[in-house]
Amino acid sequence: MTKTFYVTTPIYYVNDVPHIGHSYTTIAADILARFFRARGWDVRFLTGTDEHGIKIVKAAAEKGMTPQELADQVVVHFQSLWKELNITNDDFIRTSQPRHEKRVQEIIRQLVAKDEIYQGSYEGWYDEGQEEFVTESTARENEYKSAINGKPLVRYSEPSYFFRLSKWTPKLIEHIEANADFIQPAARRNEVLSKLAAGVEDLSISRAKEKLGGWGIEMPNDPTHSVYVWIDALSNYYTALGRPAIGDEYDDAGAKYWPATVHLIGKDILWFHAVYWPCMLMALDVPLPRTVFAHGWWTSNGKKMSKSLGNFVSREQIAEICTEYSVDVYRWFLMRAVTFGGDGDFSAQTLRTKYNTELANGVGNLLSRTVNMIGRYFEGTVPPAGEVGPDEQEVIASAQRLVSGAEQAMRNYQFHVLLDDVVSLVDATNRYIDQTAPFKLAKDPSQRSRLATIMATCAQAVCIALAQLEPIMPTTARLGLEQLGVDGPAPTESAAWGERLKGSIVKKGEGLFPRKQ
Ligand code: MSP
Repeated sequence: MTKTFYVTTPIYYVNDVPHIGHSYTTIAADILARFFRARGWDVRFLTGTDEHGIKIVKAAAEKGMTPQELADQVVVHFQSLWKELNITNDDFIRTSQPRHEKRVQEIIRQLVAKDEIYQGSYEGWYDEGQEEFVTESTARENEYKSAINGKPLVRYSEPSYFFRLSKWTPKLIEHIEANADFIQPAARRNEVLSKLAAGVEDLSISRAKEKLGGWGIEMPNDPTHSVYVWIDALSNYYTALGRPAIGDEYDDAGAKYWPATVHLIGKDILWFHAVYWPCMLMALDVPLPRTVFAHGWWTSNGKKMSKSLGNFVSREQIAEICTEYSVDVYRWFLMRAVTFGGDGDFSAQTLRTKYNTELANGVGNLLSRTVNMIGRYFEGTVPPAGEVGPDEQEVIASAQRLVSGAEQAMRNYQFHVLLDDVVSLVDATNRYIDQTAPFKLAKDPSQRSRLATIMATCAQAVCIALAQLEPIMPTTARLGLEQLGVDGPAPTESAAWGERLKGSIVKKGEGLFPRKQ
């Protein structure tokens, strides 16, 4: 049976244009989607925009626009950036679409029918940036300011509908404890567990509709209330599949992809995904996603990126990097600079150094040396390998480690492990060329078979490295593979060593990664 793989990104707010943080999760999701698609899995990759909520209402008012006008304007920036970055999402959901709004209402209807929602009144501190009420103790700890953006908390009091979150938390704790994969990385899982142990209150899930100027999804049981934006937003992962069924043309279209394989998110929105969302699903009697993976945050030259500091790697800067280097280099660097799950620093200097060391002097140099030598010594045709000996062992072992570990690395969302293995293989092969000195052997006709083995080894090694880089650097890896004469799907498994590219006709091409000063 074909394996399904459903990967999602957060849906992004449309109060602002995209920046590095948005592109990070989206690129990671794209790499996973490409990787598993290439292996024949049935992949579904969803991204989209989160368009309701007070934040959007305010941003639109500041610009003299309606929220819908603002959403329509900003969504284009996300969609065009994803195109530029070669993102292969299968669907793009906008929470203002009727297919989503109607299904959220159906979800609420079902929860009301199950007595999972009740009416109460809420008074408390509200973080307008995060769109969440903050408990008294958290508010006090942070001097009544938002822990995220430092803005003063606002005192809100209003009648509200509540979801029986506290009823489900014991079951959630059990689930988290029994499923080590559910919240990743492990450190984040522990954070969630200790916060849960401190106790959780029921969740206010509606807002007075008039406060939102009518922008939002109406509570089906009370037209004076709108659905709290996080409940609306989280549901997108399910509604995009045409679930629950409501009798329209989207019904169940992607039902086979549920439960999601992984929700990729940033660490700041873990609580919503690891607590509110699974509890809602349990209340609806819907299976839980396999994994919620929270990645870290990018800083800029050691400082937190923030609008007030004006140091966000913006859409314009992303475009500059893509022009100076390439889209693929940007994709690669985001995965290379940081262990996925940890925080990382973005600096132009690090990008340059890493690019020169690992791409220009690494895989790029290896490919051009290989293609040149095969051109010079074997008239451009990859020769069959002669006997493989001790000199080849390190290269072969590195290649096998890369190939056999790739799937495991990607199943564990360890992009860095795969990239480390690529670097090891490339380094081992470049060293191998220096040690075996084919340029000397070429002068001695009695060494012809040895020379053939070395060329076949280099060709196979660089082919494997490029094939594994393909989901990360789709355009460049393809160009490199074409130089090796590979035009079908890149071979990902190793055949008998040195056999894979036998007879392949190499083509000299542009250097993949020109050195940068
Ligand atoms: N709309 C909500 C998500 C709803 S999902 C059901 C939201 N949107 S957002 O536009 O603010 O985008 C959030 C994503 O960008 C989060 O995953 C967040 O972690 C990520 N990032 C924002 N700044 C970031 C960095 N500096 N570094 C990495 N990611 C960061 O939250």
